[in-house]
Amino acid sequence: MRISNCKMIPVQKITDPRGDIGVIEGERQIPFAINRIYYSYNTPQGIARGGHAHKKLQQLMIAMAGSFDIMIDDGNAQKTYTLSQPCQGLYICPMIWRELTNFSPDAICMVLASEYYDEDDYFRDYKQFLEAKKALAIP
Ligand code: TYD
Repeated sequence: MRISNCKMIPVQKITDPRGDIGVIEGERQIPFAINRIYYSYNTPQGIARGGHAHKKLQQLMIAMAGSFDIMIDDGNAQKTYTLSQPCQGLYICPMIWRELTNFSPDAICMVLASEYYDEDDYFRDYKQFLEAKKALAIP
C-alpha cells in the first residue's frame, strides 16, 4: 500500500443550464462500496485534522466547499494534494498516514468511506503505524 495507490479521481459531472451535479456510485467511479459518509466543517483556522492511518478503510475525500491540503505518507514517501473542487476527490487506500491542514474558513471535507466507524481500525501513533507496516512486510 503505497502513496502511488492513492490518486485523484474525477467525479462525474452533469451540467445543464440549472448548474452542475456531481455523481459518485460505489464500486463504479470509486473502487469500494460506500458504507459511511462523514464530513468536517467549521474547522478553526490553523487546525490540523487526521494524524492517523487505517488498517482496512478506503476513503474518497472531496472538498465540497472551500479548500484544504492533504498530506499522505506510506512510511517511505509523502505527497501533498490541495483539494478545492467538488468535481474531484482523493482516493486513499488502507495503511496510509494522512494529515489535513490549511483549511479555508468555508471548507467542507466530505469523506466517503468503505466501512462503518471502528476505532480499532485506526493507527493513531505514527511509530506504531511504521512498525505495523514493517511487521506485515507491506510494501
Ligand atoms: P477522527 O477520525 O480522528 O477525525 P479526523 O480524521 O477528521 O481528524 O475522528 C474524530 C472523533 O470523531 C474521534 O473521537 C472519533 C469520532 N468519529 C466517530 O465517532 N465516527 C466517525 O465516523 C468518525 C469519522 C469519527
